[in-house]
Amino acid sequence: MTIGFILNGEDVVVRVDANIRLIDILRRDFSLLGAKAGCLCGRCDACSIIFNGEVVKSCLIPAFRVHGSEVITIEGFSQNNEYEDIITGFSQAAVETCGYCETGKILAVEMLLSKIPHPSRKEILLGFQGLKCRCTEPESLINAVSAIADIRQRRLYGRFS
Ligand code: FES
Ligand code: FES
Repeated sequence: MTIGFILNGEDVVVRVDANIRLIDILRRDFSLLGAKAGCLCGRCDACSIIFNGEVVKSCLIPAFRVHGSEVITIEGFSQNNEYEDIITGFSQAAVETCGYCETGKILAVEMLLSKIPHPSRKEILLGFQGLKCRCTEPESLINAVSAIADIRQRRLYGRFS
């Protein structure tokens, strides 16, 4: 089948097998390797992408659903100010990342803050419940997200809320 969609801001068309998944299309047809092939069954966040404005697991999106959609990968998201906010906050709170978990962690923060600009401790922990990384203390994640929320607020409005 032939599908057309918007990928990181550009119209693209690609011919794919009907039973292939979005993660495979991104990695194989577009050489976008930021979405990692982890569990491939929806249990980790390694393959996270933004799909029609929502952060989703690309291993669970079949090719036919991609047609007509808008997809932003971590490569596209990294061009935004929001990405810089998150990287700065991670650095300030000494949150570890690696090739396996980085995309999932970054997009988990984005999903959370896009819905709740100043999440509570409980909301932050809920936002990371799919995270499989055991290298980062929950307290560091809470500190990082709080810092990122403030950084974003300051960038957007020139002040803390
Ligand atoms: S690789 Fe998609 S959720 Fe784990
Ligand atoms: S830092 Fe990547 S899995 Fe823990």
